[in-house]
Amino acid sequence: MTVSAAELEALTELAVRAARAAGELLVHERPADGDLGVETKTSATDVVTEMDQRSERLLHAMLTAERPGDGYLGEEGAIADSVSGITWVVDPIDGTVNYLYRLPVWAVSIAACVADESAADGLRGVVGVVHAPMLGETFWAAAGQGAYVRSVAGDTRVHGRHETRLAHALVTTGFGYEARSRVVQGATAAALLPQVRDLRRPGSAALDICFVAAGRVDAYYERGTHAWDRAAAALIAREAGMVVGGPHGQPESYTLTMAANPVLFPQLEHALLAAGALTPPADQT
Ligand code: IPD
Repeated sequence: MTVSAAELEALTELAVRAARAAGELLVHERPADGDLGVETKTSATDVVTEMDQRSERLLHAMLTAERPGDGYLGEEGAIADSVSGITWVVDPIDGTVNYLYRLPVWAVSIAACVADESAADGLRGVVGVVHAPMLGETFWAAAGQGAYVRSVAGDTRVHGRHETRLAHALVTTGFGYEARSRVVQGATAAALLPQVRDLRRPGSAALDICFVAAGRVDAYYERGTHAWDRAAAALIAREAGMVVGGPHGQPESYTLTMAANPVLFPQLEHALLAAGALTPPADQT
């Protein structure tokens, strides 16, 4: 499906407006720390707050009120099939644990996607918005139009870094919520660490990938991410000239997602595979 320039503009405007509205809610209506209504999901460390759910309700209401024929896939459970050909992929807070602890690295992530069997999760992003209220930054991209960040400094086009040596690369990663997955992830990180400039774990996959897009780090990798964690940011990174993908030429997925410039990407992939990044977790908790 081809999306016209006018529709890309309308989708971008709506996604930015919705992300900002959710950001306002999350900043200004955050209850006292003890009253965040924290529940757990896949494990004791995988939290969802009442604010995740309120943010998702707001985003779902705004997007479906203005575009009732669009599909919807949200982290906190909202799901609907697309009639228009556009599907929204939404993370109402990416970096929930940071939000819980008042660390500023969290974001509202919204992607408008079209069906594409060859793309990650069968969905190809045409518009991506990652809004980080506590950083005062909104990253966005529309297919074929470049990637941008809006901050107090104004609107700036972003490009990834050109570092070509893995040994000089600053790399971000993330860890899943299940202890058995973390055993493998920790071993992979330990094997990679001596081969790179350094590792960071900022705590939001969407922002990690935007940081690659904006040239603030050289590369990112993680196992266990979902479409809503990375759909918007992957488009932003691609529009910033970066490669986002999985191992062996596959699209990015729950199995492994990597982002880096085209020269660094195969070096990172090689190092990660040699480090056992695809090792299945042992049956332990
Ligand atoms: C998580 C964050 C984190 C990443 C996890 C994600 P959530 O998303 O992006 O950085 O390591 O894989 O699940 O749970 O905060 O929306």
